Amino acid sequence: MVVKPRILIADDEPLTLELIVERLQAEGYEVEVVASGEEAVSAARNSSFNVLLTDLSMPGMSGIELLAHFAGKHPETLVIVLTGYGTIETAVEAMKRGAYDYLSKPANIDEILLTLKRAIELKDLKEENVLLRSQLQDQHRLDRLIGQSPAMQALYRIIRRVSKTDSTVLVTGESGTGKELIANAIHYNGSRRDMPFVPINCGAIPEELLESELFGHEKGAFTGALKERRGRFELAHKGTVFLDEIGEMSPKLQVKLLRFLQETKFQRIGGTKTIEVDVRILAATNKDLEKAVADSEFREDLFYRLNVIPIHVPPLREREGDVPLLIRHFLRQHCRKKDIPQKKMSKGAVESLQMYEWPGNVRELENVIERLVILTDGDEIEISDLPKRMQIPRQAEIAKIEFGEEGINLKDTLDELENRLILDALQKASGVKNKAAKLLGLNRTTLIEKMKKKQIEFPVG
Ligand SMILES: Nc1ncnc2c1ncn2[C@@H]1O[C@H](COP(=O)(O)OP(=O)(O)OP(=O)(O)O)[C@@H](O)[C@H]1O
Ligand SMILES: [Mg+2]
Repeated sequence: MVVKPRILIADDEPLTLELIVERLQAEGYEVEVVASGEEAVSAARNSSFNVLLTDLSMPGMSGIELLAHFAGKHPETLVIVLTGYGTIETAVEAMKRGAYDYLSKPANIDEILLTLKRAIELKDLKEENVLLRSQLQDQHRLDRLIGQSPAMQALYRIIRRVSKTDSTVLVTGESGTGKELIANAIHYNGSRRDMPFVPINCGAIPEELLESELFGHEKGAFTGALKERRGRFELAHKGTVFLDEIGEMSPKLQVKLLRFLQETKFQRIGGTKTIEVDVRILAATNKDLEKAVADSEFREDLFYRLNVIPIHVPPLREREGDVPLLIRHFLRQHCRKKDIPQKKMSKGAVESLQMYEWPGNVRELENVIERLVILTDGDEIEISDLPKRMQIPRQAEIAKIEFGEEGINLKDTLDELENRLILDALQKASGVKNKAAKLLGLNRTTLIEKMKKKQIEFPVG
């Protein structure tokens, strides 16, 4: 079935358009004609249109106002404006405000047809793109978040769900796992997306300054308060405040924050006026807040207020399936940024990076790729280009033992295999013997004895 493109025409002199309407219908368009902006608004409420063709000067609601209405309420409709003689400025203004094109009156029917045809083709293309993009997003990414591991897919589902609510979310995870990106995604996928997203790093700012950053102050509230200042909670009204590194907040401010969360009201420092705001709170920390509560470093009541919906971001080493995708993403990004021809990474190097522990998580990976992009000469990055600690031999090779013509010496081969496994474990554990021993199923002293006996040193050389 061919769906007829639907055109809405708004003009206060509809009679002059009669011929045009007839021709459009003959060309297979479905046309509705209204005589004012107000009528156009109500027509669009009842059905949707591919294109709105509107006169700019109409009594009542002007063409520009109508354009603004469509841009906000019906972004799927392309708007073409009709302008009288000598009003090119208005036409330009209309284009700036989102009109797709303009035609000057009296408009030639062929010109109208051509413009409409192009507009509709463009629209189809756009819709296809949006569809493609959203399908891609579902599998591999959400906004700027990359990753398709089951852990990341679960995260995307949670993010989508909590985005639709106003609930407070506490994002936890090691440093560099993407907590801030997640807070961003929650805000920008929710109904507050057009309102401010206001981040504040509670760990980076001294206590007194943080208090005034959050709550604002009145003129003269303290030495140096020369002017009144609105705090982040006020600035974020109707939007979101992201309290990053909340675990670093001082006990005094924790009390004040708790009171604000309970009452959604506060006073600026040195002020008497009560200010009420509507903000959504997101918080993040790489601290173990439950432990901080147990150690009486973090208020339990505040913890429960913040931890309404906990989101834990697993460290990169627990989702090594994401490493190749992230590598590709960062290679592309940094080559483009530095205007370097696109580089690739060999399969071996990618596998090696998948086996690395990533104590600094995605941030560490990004830094490594950025450096490799600059420092590697060829267009393919090899294992030998990687930093030494990341050059991890493939497990598969270890097991590949061939008998050949003369067979093998079982004892020597096992010995060699043991050496290599010990070295691998040490490498994977970044040299931490406790961890390496655990990987090998040995206790620490046995591992150290074996290393001594076999004269294994780590790091090598
Ligand atoms: N899944 C991901 N996809 C793409 N980029 C990511 C992802 N996770 C993290 N990054 C990138 O890694 C860097 C660190 O991310 P972010 O600042 O969000 O981490 P964080 O958890 O807030 O770290 P910290 O606890 O140190 O503040 C950023 O440059 C971010 O863009
Ligand atoms: Mg952060």
